[in-house]
Amino acid sequence: MPGLDGLDRGTAHNARVWNHWLGGKDNYSVDRAVGDHIFGMFPNIVHVARADRAFLGRVVRFLAEECGVRQFLDIGTGLPTVDNTHEVAQRVAPESRIVYVDNDPLVLMHARALLTSTPEGATDYIDADAREPGTILEAASDTLDFDRPVAVMMLGILNFVIDDDQARATVARLMDAVPSGSYLVLTHPTLELGGEGNVEAMKFWNENATPPITSRTGREIARFLDGLDLLEPGLVSCAHWRPEFAELDGTPAQVSQYGAVGRKP
Ligand SMILES: C[S@@+](CC[C@H](N)C(=O)[O-])C[C@H]1O[C@@H](n2cnc3c(N)ncnc32)[C@H](O)[C@@H]1O
Repeated sequence: MPGLDGLDRGTAHNARVWNHWLGGKDNYSVDRAVGDHIFGMFPNIVHVARADRAFLGRVVRFLAEECGVRQFLDIGTGLPTVDNTHEVAQRVAPESRIVYVDNDPLVLMHARALLTSTPEGATDYIDADAREPGTILEAASDTLDFDRPVAVMMLGILNFVIDDDQARATVARLMDAVPSGSYLVLTHPTLELGGEGNVEAMKFWNENATPPITSRTGREIARFLDGLDLLEPGLVSCAHWRPEFAELDGTPAQVSQYGAVGRKP
């Protein structure tokens, strides 16, 4: 039940538990209790969270440096942490423009930390549901030029759009709105890649936390990328997507979170 400030401190929320797994402090005791319980059931979850963030950093740097992308639409942003999308992109190209989208009230409350743009670039935050791409596109058009390439980032978010058809339609609507030379960046949890032990933990999540989550197979996740040119190395454990030398030490060989980047032809 939300308090007067709109925050629900009685139920674990994904943005806050994810922040706990990343070692952050923007979470409540209920989030830590559920997060720790899941860690007990599936200890790899902290590697999943960290590998996902490291993937985000590598992909944004790659798109900015090697592909010249200057616009990012980051849906399911999460609570601000180190190296948010705009910080990575604007380090490469200060003129980069980034729009963040999340529907968690605590993320909204912390959004100021995401709005620290360089003077040459721009950032914006939209409090919206990922399942409403029309609303997102309309609000994002204040900051992004949809005649120029955009990287649509959907990291750890389609797993909260439980219905397959709705998830595919959401991605299709977003990718229809961006021009050739745009990118789709995905991460998604799976019970493959060593994630078999996550079945009970996901069940526990769905009984004790919000929003409900689903896993998908690699084949199902690949369908989100239909019609796009899949960049090398393809759809892989996100820890394996162009790993950098500095990350090899201490990074698990594989995490049960797929990552991929597709380019709109
Ligand atoms: C697992 S976190 C991922 C955060 C970040 N993208 C990353 O990869 O580190 C998922 C985020 O999606 C947000 N989220 C979940 N369902 C959503 C929805 N229907 N609309 C918008 N945001 C949603 C949560 O609030 C949370 O911040």
